[in-house]
Amino acid sequence: MLMLQIVWIQCLLVFGANVVLALENGLARTPPMGWLAWERFRCNTDCKNDPENCISDHLFRTMADIVVAEGYAEVGYEYINVDDCWLEKDRDINGQLVADRQRFPYGMKSLSNYIHSKGLKFGIYEDYGNYTCAGYPGVLGYLENDAITFGSWDVDYVKLDGCYAHPSDMDRGYPEFGFHLNQTGRPMIYSCSWPVYQIYAGMKPNFTSIIEHCNLWRNFDDIQDSWNSLESIIDYYGNNQDVIVPNAGPGHWNDPDMLIIGNFGLSYEQSKTQMALWAILAAPLLMSVDLRTIRPEYKAILQNKKIIAVDQDPLGIQGRRIYKHKGIEIWARPITPIYESYYSYAIAFLNRRTDGTPSDVSVTLKELGLQYPGGYRVEDLYEEVDYGILTPQTKIKVKVNPSGVVILRCDLQLEEFYPSNQFTHYAPLNQVFKVRQNSFE
Ligand code: GLA
Repeated sequence: MLMLQIVWIQCLLVFGANVVLALENGLARTPPMGWLAWERFRCNTDCKNDPENCISDHLFRTMADIVVAEGYAEVGYEYINVDDCWLEKDRDINGQLVADRQRFPYGMKSLSNYIHSKGLKFGIYEDYGNYTCAGYPGVLGYLENDAITFGSWDVDYVKLDGCYAHPSDMDRGYPEFGFHLNQTGRPMIYSCSWPVYQIYAGMKPNFTSIIEHCNLWRNFDDIQDSWNSLESIIDYYGNNQDVIVPNAGPGHWNDPDMLIIGNFGLSYEQSKTQMALWAILAAPLLMSVDLRTIRPEYKAILQNKKIIAVDQDPLGIQGRRIYKHKGIEIWARPITPIYESYYSYAIAFLNRRTDGTPSDVSVTLKELGLQYPGGYRVEDLYEEVDYGILTPQTKIKVKVNPSGVVILRCDLQLEEFYPSNQFTHYAPLNQVFKVRQNSFE
């Protein structure tokens, strides 16, 4: 099926002038999930003194092993992604990219084979410019050649960064590299940094084109190992949601960057917040953590199936911040099941206060925009609390810990009222969100 799609796209590329560079690779129908080296392991190339933590073949094989052995693959984590610093500083005499000969002694095809043998998928990093952000060779001048190389290594996912490039060239360059990826005939997820570099340069990204050519893209700063950094990302997505949210959907996602859960910078509560908010944002779930040493409570957050199900909801509608007042925020994401103009919702209550004691938030479902007369089955996704079936008039009260979150799933209570074969109507998306002006307690 995928191959058919690719052949069809290639026909369009030849015959249809207006769709010359369309991606439509059929991938990432839900946000990609996996493990990515960068945030935790950075550009550690010192395998002599730090063999267990340097960017090397060994590190990626080890993580692939753990993803499978310790239940991550079972809940959906699938991609093992190499980031920067995997290359030799120079191309070979034929102009080919070469993996660092010391740190990847068997080459990238061998690593790719190993990852595939575990039932996982293999991701790689490059940069549209002359160099990667850490100064390794970029793809500029070698676009077709490098796409072919990735295809020959059976790569499944390419992150293309934007250092050492002119942001104004990206409107042409990113689609061009995507075109060459498609030409290989190998389906590869295409992760772009195109909008973020343009935003940094004061340009207004052309999201129509970005959606058409990329499966995911970065809008904002790199995540760092701190609550501050996480808060700045949450704020960016909330403050710019009118521009950002409509761009997400099956096959094309906003990427607020990696999950840093289980590292040094976030508390337990803050880690729960990141997982819940990333699910509301329909974000890619790319863990960047040492899976060898992660503590069980953080592993449990990353493996929370109910929250992953929100993230992976098939409608692919990104959520929004619907309330923000005195340090309390409420975020809502429409999810399945749906009926006529009614959606089910994931609702996250976030406490940004620092006054040290949990805050109570009371609100009726109706005030949150949940108006379905048949009611909702409401469940807490972290705690074993089942609120049962609540009508829109019911007032719910949640206690939210400082820098923590309560996330609820509110499913339309359909079966008792309608036979299941009628649940096929989709509401126009512009009806989905109605931001409440009310001030909740
Ligand atoms: C940029 C990206 C990061 C990471 C580094 C690698 O900063 O945004 O995610 O890939 O480059 O150098």
